[in-house]
Amino acid sequence: MRTIAIANQKGGCGKTTTAVNLAAAFAKYGKRTLIVDLDPQGHSTLGFGYNPETLDKTVYHALTNVQIPLPRVIIGTNIEGLNLAPSNILLSGAELEMADIIGRESLVASTDVIVPVQVNYYAMEGLRQLLETADIIRVNFKPCYVKILGLLLTFVEDRTLLSRQIQQQMREFFGDLVFDTVIHRTVRLAEAPSAGESILTFSPESKGAAEYKALAEEIIRREAVPSEEIKGEQALAEALSRDHGNSLD
Ligand SMILES: Nc1ncnc2c1ncn2[C@@H]1O[C@H](COP(=O)(O)OP(=O)(O)O)[C@@H](O)[C@H]1O
Ligand SMILES: [Mg+2]
Repeated sequence: MRTIAIANQKGGCGKTTTAVNLAAAFAKYGKRTLIVDLDPQGHSTLGFGYNPETLDKTVYHALTNVQIPLPRVIIGTNIEGLNLAPSNILLSGAELEMADIIGRESLVASTDVIVPVQVNYYAMEGLRQLLETADIIRVNFKPCYVKILGLLLTFVEDRTLLSRQIQQQMREFFGDLVFDTVIHRTVRLAEAPSAGESILTFSPESKGAAEYKALAEEIIRREAVPSEEIKGEQALAEALSRDHGNSLD
């Protein structure tokens, strides 16, 4: 079993979109998949058509009540083999109660991390983001001994030179750590959540559906070839030492 966290402290970089659609793609490839929604806003929960406020059992209950193990809060989705541990605003209470433990624990509980990186319009932003991403990885993930599965470029636009340049910079800097698959900015991906569906059922023939399926395939392929992951870790170590010239924690 693998537990993949999708993390980046930056909002709006495509975490929820990736969680929902990648999970759906895994299920379509026959991998039994559970999405654990750890967002108090319950965006993944909403994304599968549930109203977070009307659920009487959520991950909050599983985290705070020993009488309620996680399996008791799990609900189904419209995709076979894909289930959901839903979340709602109660989780923000638990976050306060447990200070900053939750985010960190969810990373410790995971075997792999995917970091979505929004390919911005602004060149300077892009460079800053590059360094920030390196910091995010060093500060948040290294101490947990979590394997960085990859950086996922999101909101990619082939038409703009800047988007292409930032993509290229990311690949030069992070090497193999950047997934071959990128996610383009497409209207269908933004529309799917309001229908309460993943892109795979909302618009199966869309570019977004094809890209999230390609990402699932790439991850399944990497799993079959562990040396790929080692190469990724080396690329990260090299990139970080190039960046700051010194310590990996
Ligand atoms: N590839 C994409 N193309 C177009 N819109 C996207 C794409 N990915 C995400 N979005 C939209 O952008 C917003 C932020 O994405 P989201 O996945 O919610 O980010 P996060 O969870 O990191 O805050 C949402 O409205 C989402 O529907
Ligand atoms: Mg989100």
